[in-house]
Amino acid sequence: MSDAVFNLDQTIQTRRSVRGFFSDRPVPPDVLHEALDLARWSPSNCNVQPWEVFIASGKTRDQLRDALKNAVLSGQAPDPTTPIDTFDGEHRRRQIACAVEMYGKMGIARDDSTGRLRAHLRNFEFFDAPHIAVVCMKKSFGIGVALDVGMWVQTLMLALWARGVGCCAQASLRLYPTIIKERLGIGDDLEILCGISFGYEDPSVPANQARQPREPLSAQIHFRD
Ligand SMILES: Cc1cc2nc3c(=O)[nH]c(=O)nc-3n(C[C@H](O)[C@H](O)[C@H](O)COP(=O)(O)O)c2cc1C
Repeated sequence: MSDAVFNLDQTIQTRRSVRGFFSDRPVPPDVLHEALDLARWSPSNCNVQPWEVFIASGKTRDQLRDALKNAVLSGQAPDPTTPIDTFDGEHRRRQIACAVEMYGKMGIARDDSTGRLRAHLRNFEFFDAPHIAVVCMKKSFGIGVALDVGMWVQTLMLALWARGVGCCAQASLRLYPTIIKERLGIGDDLEILCGISFGYEDPSVPANQARQPREPLSAQIHFRD
């Protein structure tokens, strides 16, 4: 196996979502720039490169975190502009297994509603990450283009991971687009698809012990010979 393949396989297999960061260890600008520069090479249909990304750090990130936390804690109604997916059947089973693994590692029982709210709130604290990327595309685009943006997200997360930087993609940030757009100066022509909290992992955070399995190929791929 060539070094390049080995490194790629290792990066893909070891990457996992990080939900606890050292808030006082920002990613050096050259490391971030390298990863962003690599992600530019993600493929997209007709090479339209539809991703538009806003990265908040420092005071801007702190103010956004405070605004989002206030919204959640004060019971402000979320105002998502696209439907939030709900799952049933096999997908619901996987969703529950994912939550059981994560809440289990965090020591939160199924009936612990305060603990669950606290875990939900961690999304809006960006898990203490020093940076939050908000990933957008034009509102007029559909699911085909969202697929392109997803490719960019994974490429960026792998490029960061290979440089020792952890990430957590966050659909939860789609819950409060008005607050995020206002704080980051995001135009109303854009749709927020997800956030990505990123920084250096704090291994002492219990949520970082979670490990999510994958279904076997037979459950996903349908060979037709
Ligand atoms: C598009 C997308 C949105 C996600 N949204 C959230 C989120 O809002 N909050 C969260 O804690 N994790 C979120 N995740 C992380 C998933 O839960 C995680 O990728 C999945 O459980 C597999 O675990 P792994 O990333 O550790 O392999 C998201 C992942 C993706 C790809």
